[in-house]
Amino acid sequence: MTKVLSGIQPTGRFHWGNYFGAIRQYIALQQNEQAFYFIADLHALTTIRDPAELRQLSVDAALDLVALGLDPQHAALFLQSDVPEVAELTWLLMTVTPMGLLEKCHAYKDKVSKGLPADAGLFTYPVLMAADILLYDSDIVPVGQDQVQHLEVTRDVAQKFNNMYGEVFVLPSARVLDDTAKVPGTDGEKMSKSYGNTIDLFLAEKPLRKKIMAIKTDSTPVEAPKDPEKCNLYTLYKLFASAEQQSALAARYRAGGMGYGDAKQALFELARDYFAAARERREKLAADPATIHDILRDGAQRARTIGKAVLDRARHACGLSRRHG
Ligand code: ADP
Ligand code: TRP
Repeated sequence: MTKVLSGIQPTGRFHWGNYFGAIRQYIALQQNEQAFYFIADLHALTTIRDPAELRQLSVDAALDLVALGLDPQHAALFLQSDVPEVAELTWLLMTVTPMGLLEKCHAYKDKVSKGLPADAGLFTYPVLMAADILLYDSDIVPVGQDQVQHLEVTRDVAQKFNNMYGEVFVLPSARVLDDTAKVPGTDGEKMSKSYGNTIDLFLAEKPLRKKIMAIKTDSTPVEAPKDPEKCNLYTLYKLFASAEQQSALAARYRAGGMGYGDAKQALFELARDYFAAARERREKLAADPATIHDILRDGAQRARTIGKAVLDRARHACGLSRRHG
């Protein structure tokens, strides 16, 4: 059976971009494939330096995923740090990773080019990601465009190891999400935590309305006809609306006489209703912390069973002794 794996960093609360770009895809893929999804808390250590915050964000991320429909019966959901084998595999892979390969990677390069101090964790971030993927013999890795470079590094490193020690690792492929899933933020740029233009998934009504009302629009007067295809607000509306609702709003844009306030109100109502059931599930789950911890423990156990076998294969191939017990 094809194995699907992906990880998401708990570096903030999830937003519409994360859901429509990534999380929705995880959920769709869990039905027919063997799926592994994890909260990348080891990676997040390169960003979040407050221990209580990291713990809270990691649990929040797990609660969000399950509330949104990630089904622990189908997919193994776990914390990256609950499978310590990944750290050992990272070391084995580092010994075959050329420095030049990592120097080209954008997270590190961007930071250095801004004159900011970068640590070895950030520099070797792509090797930990390669270990995440290779540890479970993953075939398919659904990711956003920005992660494609890391998948290339993963394949390169796997190939180097295989050339040196025999066919140890499966070569994974990235599954890049559809372009239509590039969700714009409240300012029209790509929605991202780093741009401060996000709308979080589980906002209460009041802050949700406030965020939506603050979405940037142009200064076309109410009476004038408007082009929906050039409007950020309409792009966001399309994420939630049925085909009929989309064409009805598009017609109102083109006819003139509609203010952006009306379109914002329509978006608010759809977005509120769209996540209502998930919000309710999340509240229930959050009230019973034992359940999410059980889900994560069970997911880690399932992941570890596979991870241990693959690590053992890698250890043996490169001349370390097999694990005892
Ligand atoms: P952020 O940019 O907010 O820090 P991450 O880099 O943690 O988000 O992204 C986690 C996942 O969500 C990735 O798979 C990424 O491709 C996807 N994603 C993030 N923002 C968007 C967006 N605006 N549109 C589509 N997908 C997105
Ligand atoms: N680097 C990814 C991101 O920022 C998260 C991640 C870590 C990941 N390990 C992974 C994604 C393994 C896919 C597979 O989005």
